[in-house]
Amino acid sequence: MIYDHRAPPMTKRPATSVPLIGVDRKSAEPLHRQVYESYRGAVLAGRLRPGQMVPSTRALALELQISRMPVLTAYAQLLAEGYFETRAGIGTVISEGLPVQRLASRTIQPSAPSADVGPRIVASRCLTPYRPFLPAWISGRGAFNVGAVALEHFPHRTWTRLVTRSARNGAGIGSARDVMGSLPLREAIADYLRTSRAVNCVADQIMITNGSQNGVELTVRALLDPGSPVWVEEPGYQLARDVLSMAGCRIVPVPVDQQGIDVARGIKLSRNARAAFVTPSHQFPLGMTMSVSRRLELLAWASKQGAWIIEDDYDGEFRYESKQIASLQGLDRDGRVIYIGTFSKVLSPALRIGYVVIPRDLLPYFMRVRWATDLGSEEFIQGVVTDFLREGHFARHLRSMRILYRERRSVLVEALERSLGSEAQIVGAEAGLHLVLLPKGLNDDVEPCKAAALEQLWLWPLSQCYYGPATEHGFVLGFGGTPPERIPKAVKQLKEVLRGRRQASLRPARP
Ligand SMILES: Cc1ncc(COP(=O)(O)O)c(C=O)c1O
Repeated sequence: MIYDHRAPPMTKRPATSVPLIGVDRKSAEPLHRQVYESYRGAVLAGRLRPGQMVPSTRALALELQISRMPVLTAYAQLLAEGYFETRAGIGTVISEGLPVQRLASRTIQPSAPSADVGPRIVASRCLTPYRPFLPAWISGRGAFNVGAVALEHFPHRTWTRLVTRSARNGAGIGSARDVMGSLPLREAIADYLRTSRAVNCVADQIMITNGSQNGVELTVRALLDPGSPVWVEEPGYQLARDVLSMAGCRIVPVPVDQQGIDVARGIKLSRNARAAFVTPSHQFPLGMTMSVSRRLELLAWASKQGAWIIEDDYDGEFRYESKQIASLQGLDRDGRVIYIGTFSKVLSPALRIGYVVIPRDLLPYFMRVRWATDLGSEEFIQGVVTDFLREGHFARHLRSMRILYRERRSVLVEALERSLGSEAQIVGAEAGLHLVLLPKGLNDDVEPCKAAALEQLWLWPLSQCYYGPATEHGFVLGFGGTPPERIPKAVKQLKEVLRGRRQASLRPARP
């Protein structure tokens, strides 16, 4: 019911012009709360003015046809919070001291404050140009999503069993915590990394992180200063670049060639860089493997200059044409490499579990950062992942995923070759969960991505991977999350999109 104070006065008080106060008896919200909110909203919106009288509790209760108690409770609250005040001989009024003008603008436009709210100073690092990772035109999960994995093959049953068992055992809610992460998980990861990725490490050097993104962030905070020049691969992984930019580092884009990052160019561009961020096992996005000579060159530069190498080994587990490539860290004799890994590709990106292998002497700095940031990762899932590794499920899952991804890759490569033939070049299909398609003569890869999104294709424009101006245009196509039966049709749709673009560009311009 609505009480309109502009209606004929209920009491002996002088008529006041006040807005509507209403209650809804069917609402789950208590009546006193509704009265309180109605008044508060009206005051904040400027619909009730300082000094304006409000009706007595008795009159309002009568009008609203509710008992007096909720009205008394609401008034008491409004008095206590300073929205109301009592005036001798007059009764209850809206408080005089309220800065109504400012309050009104605040509530009417909460998302776009008016100019009089004073300066709104945010961190200058957030003001750097931001190229969003997910472009506005992409929504949902279409074919070729580069971040997706084969979730339909995630071992849900085993996982559920492990989660249930851990929960029953009260895992993850103890008070003992280690900023480095769960020791059993670190031990399991160390065993895995030594045997599968030729990483030189023991559990003490491993810090569990919230995905590799968090690993990069911790590394940057521990080792770099604002203004530190850092080499990044060009084209490269823009989420890592974002971390570096946000930390105020100076990005030095260093081109990649068939052997990976061009170290000689890097030295020319910035010999004294403080670090290099690289993806040696499977360059993101172009997919080449860093050659041994480049690895040695990079390590030699880092040792000579006292620079750090941040190795992002995000999908090194999946190789289709050759045996696994050993990590760069395994070649490092001077403790220059910070090795970052993740469970995002081998299990699921939603788990947010990754790890950093830290040279021993740097451990205190990383721990210092962790103490000052999030005090470490959540423990329950770490326990589940530990069991998953220790009980052999991980090795089994990895084996079957290798077979599955190999098939998806072959289906995609064949479909692309059949459909596009010599019209496009495929690069970087030897490993990982994505490849790059370079259609001949393409000089804008963003517009086709927009058109493709309408066909439920999730294409990633190669140009977005460049820090500077793009020298190549194409599409980063993920096949990890695209079922093989969907691939041929998706490739056909892609061809149509490209044909549409080509015809549009050949069409004579209208006079
Ligand atoms: C180059 C690169 N590094 C790392 C990752 C994984 O990041 P995270 O562990 O934060 O999920 C990805 C995922 O797509 C990637 O492409």
